[in-house]
Amino acid sequence: MRVAICPGSFDPVTYGHLDVIRRATKIFDQVYVTILNNPAKRTLFTVEERLEFLRRATADLGNITCEYFDGLLVDYARQKNAVAMVRGLRAVSDFEAEFKMASMNRNLNPDVETVFMMTSGEYAFLSSSIVREVASYGGDVSNWVPSYVAEALKVKLRERRQEERDRQS
Ligand code: PNS
Repeated sequence: MRVAICPGSFDPVTYGHLDVIRRATKIFDQVYVTILNNPAKRTLFTVEERLEFLRRATADLGNITCEYFDGLLVDYARQKNAVAMVRGLRAVSDFEAEFKMASMNRNLNPDVETVFMMTSGEYAFLSSSIVREVASYGGDVSNWVPSYVAEALKVKLRERRQEERDRQS
Protein backbone atom coordinates (compact mmCIF):
# COMPACT_ATOMS: atom_id res chain seq x y z
CA MET A 1 0.00 0.00 0.00
CA ARG A 2 1.48 3.33 -1.10
CA VAL A 3 0.79 6.11 1.37
CA ALA A 4 1.27 9.83 0.69
CA ILE A 5 0.93 12.97 2.75
CA CYS A 6 -0.47 16.25 1.43
CA PRO A 7 0.84 18.67 4.06
CA GLY A 8 0.00 22.34 4.47
CA SER A 9 -1.44 25.17 6.52
CA PHE A 10 -4.73 25.13 4.57
CA ASP A 11 -5.79 28.54 5.92
CA PRO A 12 -8.25 28.01 4.32
CA VAL A 13 -8.33 25.16 1.80
CA THR A 14 -8.76 26.40 -1.79
CA TYR A 15 -9.74 24.71 -5.05
CA GLY A 16 -6.02 24.77 -5.88
CA HIS A 17 -5.26 22.54 -2.88
CA LEU A 18 -8.23 20.32 -3.69
CA ASP A 19 -7.05 19.88 -7.26
CA VAL A 20 -3.67 18.60 -6.05
CA ILE A 21 -5.27 16.41 -3.35
CA ARG A 22 -7.66 14.80 -5.82
CA ARG A 23 -4.84 14.06 -8.24
CA ALA A 24 -2.78 12.56 -5.41
CA THR A 25 -5.63 10.16 -4.56
CA LYS A 26 -5.37 8.75 -8.09
CA ILE A 27 -1.69 7.94 -7.71
CA PHE A 28 -1.51 6.76 -4.10
CA ASP A 29 -3.59 4.15 -2.24
CA GLN A 30 -4.02 6.25 0.88
CA VAL A 31 -3.61 10.01 1.24
CA TYR A 32 -3.29 11.87 4.52
CA VAL A 33 -4.18 15.53 4.17
CA THR A 34 -2.42 16.97 7.16
CA ILE A 35 -2.43 20.38 8.76
CA LEU A 36 0.94 21.19 10.27
CA ASN A 37 2.23 24.34 11.86
CA ASN A 38 4.12 26.79 9.71
CA PRO A 39 5.97 29.02 12.19
CA ALA A 40 6.21 31.75 9.54
CA LYS A 41 2.43 32.14 9.39
CA ARG A 42 -0.15 33.52 11.77
CA THR A 43 -3.36 31.76 10.80
CA LEU A 44 -6.84 33.22 10.44
CA PHE A 45 -8.76 30.00 11.12
CA THR A 46 -8.25 27.62 14.04
CA VAL A 47 -6.97 24.09 13.45
CA GLU A 48 -10.48 22.74 14.15
CA GLU A 49 -12.03 25.07 11.57
CA ARG A 50 -9.42 24.24 8.94
CA LEU A 51 -9.86 20.52 9.56
CA GLU A 52 -13.63 20.80 9.27
CA PHE A 53 -13.29 22.56 5.88
CA LEU A 54 -10.86 19.90 4.66
CA ARG A 55 -13.06 17.02 5.82
CA ARG A 56 -16.11 18.50 4.15
CA ALA A 57 -14.27 19.29 0.93
CA THR A 58 -12.82 15.77 0.61
CA ALA A 59 -15.85 13.82 1.88
CA ASP A 60 -16.47 12.33 -1.58
CA LEU A 61 -12.98 10.82 -1.78
CA GLY A 62 -12.60 7.37 -0.27
CA ASN A 63 -8.90 7.03 0.36
CA ILE A 64 -8.38 10.24 2.35
CA THR A 65 -7.85 11.00 6.01
CA CYS A 66 -7.61 14.60 7.25
CA GLU A 67 -5.58 15.19 10.39
CA TYR A 68 -3.58 17.70 12.38
CA PHE A 69 -0.01 17.02 13.53
CA ASP A 70 2.01 19.17 15.89
CA GLY A 71 5.58 18.32 14.96
CA LEU A 72 7.96 17.74 12.10
CA LEU A 73 6.49 16.65 8.80
CA VAL A 74 9.14 13.95 8.38
CA ASP A 75 8.26 12.44 11.78
CA TYR A 76 4.61 12.35 10.79
CA ALA A 77 5.54 10.76 7.45
CA ARG A 78 7.53 8.09 9.28
CA GLN A 79 4.61 7.34 11.61
CA LYS A 80 2.33 6.81 8.62
CA ASN A 81 4.88 4.80 6.63
CA ALA A 82 4.47 7.32 3.84
CA VAL A 83 6.54 7.05 0.68
CA ALA A 84 5.82 10.59 -0.49
CA MET A 85 4.97 14.11 0.59
CA VAL A 86 3.02 15.83 -2.17
CA ARG A 87 3.32 19.59 -2.71
CA GLY A 88 1.66 21.71 -5.36
CA LEU A 89 4.01 23.90 -7.37
CA ARG A 90 2.43 27.00 -8.86
CA ALA A 91 5.05 29.28 -10.29
CA VAL A 92 8.77 29.87 -10.34
CA SER A 93 8.27 31.98 -7.20
CA ASP A 94 7.33 28.85 -5.21
CA PHE A 95 10.49 27.06 -6.20
CA GLU A 96 13.05 28.46 -3.77
CA ALA A 97 11.01 27.90 -0.60
CA GLU A 98 9.92 24.45 -1.78
CA PHE A 99 13.48 23.52 -2.71
CA LYS A 100 14.69 24.49 0.76
CA MET A 101 11.93 22.57 2.47
CA ALA A 102 12.35 19.44 0.34
CA SER A 103 16.13 19.48 0.82
CA MET A 104 15.85 19.83 4.60
CA ASN A 105 13.19 17.12 4.74
CA ARG A 106 15.37 14.79 2.71
CA ASN A 107 18.25 15.38 5.13
CA LEU A 108 16.00 14.64 8.07
CA ASN A 109 14.45 11.54 6.52
CA PRO A 110 15.88 10.20 3.24
CA ASP A 111 13.23 7.45 3.12
CA VAL A 112 10.43 9.73 2.06
CA GLU A 113 10.34 11.63 -1.23
CA THR A 114 8.90 15.07 -1.86
CA VAL A 115 6.76 14.86 -4.99
CA PHE A 116 5.83 18.11 -6.77
CA MET A 117 2.66 18.42 -8.74
CA MET A 118 2.19 21.32 -11.14
CA THR A 119 -1.04 23.02 -10.23
CA SER A 120 -3.63 23.17 -12.98
CA GLY A 121 -3.46 26.36 -15.09
CA GLU A 122 -6.66 27.88 -13.71
CA TYR A 123 -5.25 27.78 -10.16
CA ALA A 124 -1.69 28.84 -10.97
CA PHE A 125 -2.10 32.20 -9.20
CA LEU A 126 -4.26 30.96 -6.34
CA SER A 127 -3.19 30.92 -2.70
CA SER A 128 -4.94 30.99 0.67
CA SER A 129 -3.36 34.37 1.37
CA ILE A 130 -4.70 35.98 -1.82
CA VAL A 131 -8.15 34.55 -1.06
CA ARG A 132 -8.00 36.01 2.47
CA GLU A 133 -6.90 39.37 1.10
CA VAL A 134 -9.67 39.56 -1.52
CA ALA A 135 -12.27 38.44 1.05
CA SER A 136 -11.02 41.02 3.56
CA TYR A 137 -11.97 43.80 1.12
CA GLY A 138 -15.36 42.27 0.43
CA GLY A 139 -14.37 40.66 -2.91
CA ASP A 140 -16.06 37.56 -4.28
CA VAL A 141 -14.00 34.40 -3.67
CA SER A 142 -16.69 31.87 -4.56
CA ASN A 143 -14.73 30.69 -7.63
CA TRP A 144 -11.76 29.75 -5.50
CA VAL A 145 -13.08 28.14 -2.32
CA PRO A 146 -16.14 26.05 -1.41
CA SER A 147 -19.23 28.12 -0.50
CA TYR A 148 -19.04 27.27 3.23
CA VAL A 149 -15.43 28.48 3.30
CA ALA A 150 -16.40 31.73 1.55
CA GLU A 151 -19.18 32.20 4.14
CA ALA A 152 -16.84 31.41 7.05
CA LEU A 153 -14.34 33.93 5.69
CA LYS A 154 -16.98 36.68 5.79
CA VAL A 155 -17.91 35.83 9.38
CA LYS A 156 -14.32 35.50 10.58
CA LEU A 157 -13.17 38.71 8.93
CA ARG A 158 -16.16 40.58 10.36
CA GLU A 159 -15.19 39.28 13.83
CA ARG A 160 -11.60 40.37 13.28
CA ARG A 161 -12.67 43.87 12.24
CA GLN A 162 -14.87 44.15 15.34
CA GLU A 163 -11.99 42.98 17.57
CA GLU A 164 -9.76 45.59 15.95
CA ARG A 165 -12.35 48.34 16.54
CA ASP A 166 -12.77 47.23 20.19
CA ARG A 167 -9.02 47.37 20.69
CA GLN A 168 -8.78 50.87 19.27
CA SER A 169 -11.72 52.31 21.28
O1 PNS B 1 0.84 25.54 3.33
P1 PNS B 1 2.23 25.83 3.81
O2 PNS B 1 2.21 26.89 4.89
O3 PNS B 1 3.16 26.19 2.69
O4 PNS B 1 2.80 24.47 4.47
C1 PNS B 1 4.06 24.44 5.08
C2 PNS B 1 4.14 23.26 6.08
C3 PNS B 1 3.07 23.42 7.16
C4 PNS B 1 3.96 21.96 5.34
C5 PNS B 1 5.57 23.32 6.73
O5 PNS B 1 5.75 24.55 7.39
C6 PNS B 1 5.82 22.14 7.66
O6 PNS B 1 6.17 21.07 7.23
N1 PNS B 1 5.63 22.36 8.99
C7 PNS B 1 5.83 21.34 9.99
C8 PNS B 1 7.18 21.53 10.70
C9 PNS B 1 8.32 21.04 9.85
O7 PNS B 1 8.44 19.88 9.53
N2 PNS B 1 9.22 21.98 9.49
C10 PNS B 1 10.39 21.69 8.70
C11 PNS B 1 10.17 22.00 7.24
S1 PNS B 1 11.69 21.91 6.39
